[in-house]
Amino acid sequence: MTETASTRDAARDLFATLTGHEPIGTWSAPGRVNLIGEHTDYNDGFVFPFATPHRTHVALGTRTDGRIRVVSTFDPVPVEVPLTDLDALFPSEGAPRVPEWSAYPLGVAWALLHAAGLSADAVTGVDLAFASDVPVGAGLSSSAAIEGAAATALADTWGVSADRVTLAQVGRRAENEAVGAPTGIMDQMASMLGQTDAAIFLDCRTLEAQVVDLGFAAAGLELLVIDTHVKHAHATGGYGERRASCEKGAEIMDVPSLRDVSVADLDRAQELMDDVTFRRVRHVVTENQRVLDTVEALRAEGPRAIGALLDASHVSMRDDFEISVPELDTAVEAAVAAGAVGARMTGGGFGGSAIALVAHDRVAAVSDAVTRAFADAGFAAPHLFTVTPSAGAGRDA
Ligand code: GLA
Repeated sequence: MTETASTRDAARDLFATLTGHEPIGTWSAPGRVNLIGEHTDYNDGFVFPFATPHRTHVALGTRTDGRIRVVSTFDPVPVEVPLTDLDALFPSEGAPRVPEWSAYPLGVAWALLHAAGLSADAVTGVDLAFASDVPVGAGLSSSAAIEGAAATALADTWGVSADRVTLAQVGRRAENEAVGAPTGIMDQMASMLGQTDAAIFLDCRTLEAQVVDLGFAAAGLELLVIDTHVKHAHATGGYGERRASCEKGAEIMDVPSLRDVSVADLDRAQELMDDVTFRRVRHVVTENQRVLDTVEALRAEGPRAIGALLDASHVSMRDDFEISVPELDTAVEAAVAAGAVGARMTGGGFGGSAIALVAHDRVAAVSDAVTRAFADAGFAAPHLFTVTPSAGAGRDA
């Protein structure tokens, strides 16, 4: 049995234990790996993520009392509220008033009702039981996977005919306003739009998405994930600070967002701003260009041509955006030294995972080299696994 099928069973079993009956259906949504384009999404820029084979599954059943109850294998204490209380739970000012993880699915229910223009007493009550094999805190967007699973399940159940971009926006609103993490829309779009063996080239200003074949397998390549086990959280600290620096940089350049600054403008930017703000801006501006160059190189020459761009992206995050940590740098350096085509940290930073594009017959050697480098540096052993780009959110049964 695959991991994903057993995770779906875990969601069904949890549902049955909670309610004493079978769910009406199961839905799932993937996590994501971002190939390139980091901290560009909230600057109206470009990103290039794909969906992971790791998924969050949800089993759903209806109830007749207008309440919503959520439960997860990670925290089996159910959280239950009347749907009509959701507006009060997520006030526009102040912290959400629900226990930690339940803000994700309850926030999705709240945001979906608003997006669909539905009143809370016009829809059926629901029970939702979640199980996931997306590693939590690994920078692979376990949160977008919960949001995507909840959004597709609730939209189907409540008869909301929203398109996938709208459901991604619902997930993002839950994350920003219900959970309180000031993230962009990349993760939700990747989770909703993912396709097998392809990545999503997304313009975060227009939300126009192009599916681009990666061709890793045909080129004899694998995408290795190196989870450093250094936990990160985006509701706190560094992520919000970086976002504020980007807004400051755009204001100094007198543009709506850093998307409107090009590599050719960087000399002028350097004259106008302090060193730290300039380096934050330079990361975003050059990273946008690297996404465009990556897509072009892939299309023209295939995946072996993107290695240097991955490496340059990591250097920019390490030195200019300053969101790497020693474990991520060690992972990237050891992977490249052992023959990876290219490597970089992925996701929001301050921990989480690095990725390395590696020839099939070098995966074992690169993995050994990374594991050894961690041991030599006195770091806890990393978790290494390969991923293949997978399908986006949807109904499974
Ligand atoms: C996190 C956020 C995304 C994006 C990345 C950095 O994953 O959720 O919106 O900003 O960080 O690229």
